[in-house]
Amino acid sequence: MNTATARAHPNIAFIKYWGNRDHELRLPSNSSVSMNLSGLFTETTVTWDPALNHDRLTMNGMEAQHDATNRVVRHLDAIRNRFNIHAHAIITTQNNFPTGAGIASSASAFAALTVAAIAASGQTVSEREASTLARLGSGSASRSIPSGYVEWHAADTHEDSFAETAFPLDHWHLTDIIAVISKAHKATGSTDGHASAKTSDLQAARVAGAEERLKRVKAAIAQRDFPSFATVVEHDSNLMHAVMMTSQPPLFYWLPASLALMARVRQLRADGLRVCYTLDAGPNVHCICVRDDAKAVRQALENLSITEDLIVAEVGEGAQIISSA
Ligand code: PMV
Repeated sequence: MNTATARAHPNIAFIKYWGNRDHELRLPSNSSVSMNLSGLFTETTVTWDPALNHDRLTMNGMEAQHDATNRVVRHLDAIRNRFNIHAHAIITTQNNFPTGAGIASSASAFAALTVAAIAASGQTVSEREASTLARLGSGSASRSIPSGYVEWHAADTHEDSFAETAFPLDHWHLTDIIAVISKAHKATGSTDGHASAKTSDLQAARVAGAEERLKRVKAAIAQRDFPSFATVVEHDSNLMHAVMMTSQPPLFYWLPASLALMARVRQLRADGLRVCYTLDAGPNVHCICVRDDAKAVRQALENLSITEDLIVAEVGEGAQIISSA
C-alpha cells in the first residue's frame, strides 16, 4: 500500500488562535475552539514513490507554485522523519471552495495531507497524534482532524498541543452562512500574522483573557445558550482583529463591506434571529446561526448587494481516509 486519499473540512474558530509561543512547532499562545464545516472540503491523494527524486504537488488541477510546494515539502519532511519514510511523493489536492479568502483552506489542506500521507505509508496513529502532526503544517489544521466542535489545547510541548472533540457534531445544530465579499487571495498569510501578533500592545491582553472566554463559549455550547455564545464569539473575533490592526505592520482584513455585514448581523439579532458573526484572516463574514433560523438569515443576506456569494455549512466530521491502495 503506498497511495491514500483523505478528505478534511475547514473549520471556523469561535475562540481564535492568533500568535505562537513557538513558531517552529506552531505551539499557539492560547487554546482555541472551532467547529468543522461540512460540505466544504479538501481532498488530497498522496503516493509515496521511491523512484522519485523530489515531491511533486498539483493543486486544483495545476502544478503548484514554489511557496506552496516548499511548505508541503517541509510538512512531508516532518512526516518522513516521524515514520522513517525514505521516498518522495506525488500529491494532488483540490478544494471545493475558494482558497485563501478567510475560509481556512490551510486547515483542511494540512489535515487532509497529514492523514493521506500517514495512511499511504501503511501506518496508523491515534487521532491525538494525527492532530499534533497536522498542527506542524498549519496550526488550525490540528482542529480539522477531530469531528464536530473541537478544542485545541495550547501547551509547551509538541506532544501535548493537540485538538480533540469537545462536543459531537449533532450536539447543537449550528449553521455557518459565509458571506463572501471577496474571493481574492489574502495579501498577508496567517504564518506572517502569527509572527507579528506580539508587536501589538493588545496581544498580551487578548491572550490573558482567552482561557476565560474559552470556558464561556464551551459552557454556552454545552447549554445551547445562543445569546451567551453570540456575545463571546463576536467579542473574541473583534479582539483578534484589534490585535491585527495594531500590529507592526498593521493588518487590516476587514473591508467596508465586512463592517456593513457585521452591523447587519447585529441588527438581525436585535430583531430576534439567533445569528452572530466571526471573521478569520480575511474579509468574509461567517454568520453563525441556529439551524432553525438559517433560512431567514440567508434571505436577509441574499438581499444585500455587497455579498458576492453565500456559502452554507453545518457542523462537519473529522478528517477521513476515503480510499487507499
Ligand atoms: O492555522 P493558521 O496559521 O492558518 O491560522 C489560522 C488563524 C485564524 O484563522 C485567523 C484563527 C483561527 O483560530 O482559525
